[in-house]
Amino acid sequence: MHTIASELAASIRSIPDYPKPGIVFRDITTMLGNAKAFRRAVDALVQPYAGTKIDKVAGMEARGFILGGAVAHQLSSGFVPIRKKGKLPHDIVRIAYSLEYGVDEMEMHRDAVNPGEKVILVDDLIATGGTAVGATQLLRQIGAEVVAACFVIDLPDLGGRKKLEALNVPVHTLVEFS
Ligand code: ADE
Repeated sequence: MHTIASELAASIRSIPDYPKPGIVFRDITTMLGNAKAFRRAVDALVQPYAGTKIDKVAGMEARGFILGGAVAHQLSSGFVPIRKKGKLPHDIVRIAYSLEYGVDEMEMHRDAVNPGEKVILVDDLIATGGTAVGATQLLRQIGAEVVAACFVIDLPDLGGRKKLEALNVPVHTLVEFS
């Protein structure tokens, strides 16, 4: 049987020992370049929210821009970029988030979301959840209601989904790699 998960898994390239020994990098560029797989992924990300009012889709730099832009278009929602520090030109809110080694900071325009607006967060992959937890905190800081966080890929062994669920953010993913 061809489930959406098995079709998407087959369209994603796995690269051993990248960017360092012991990591299997899940490369979505092959999925993005496959017209059928890209459409299926976006359709499946959108499906739970079809017919509901989502004011904004927030996408994390950089791969979250590609998927989040397509999801926003299909939901007729606005799009909010969450960027690495120093890229946004207007008043920003900023938060530090944990990476595998050390911390970094991400930013969003302060006026990107109005208080009470319903937002879904989109990225390609959830691993440890550091970026998605930071993005949730940023969005909540400016009064957004984070309706869900959506990812093509879940790496369940790294625990990111559980961290988001502990913050009462429902998590929606399409394919798991262990
Ligand atoms: N980000 C964190 N872990 C990853 C992995 N295994 N593949 C792609 N992106 C990642």
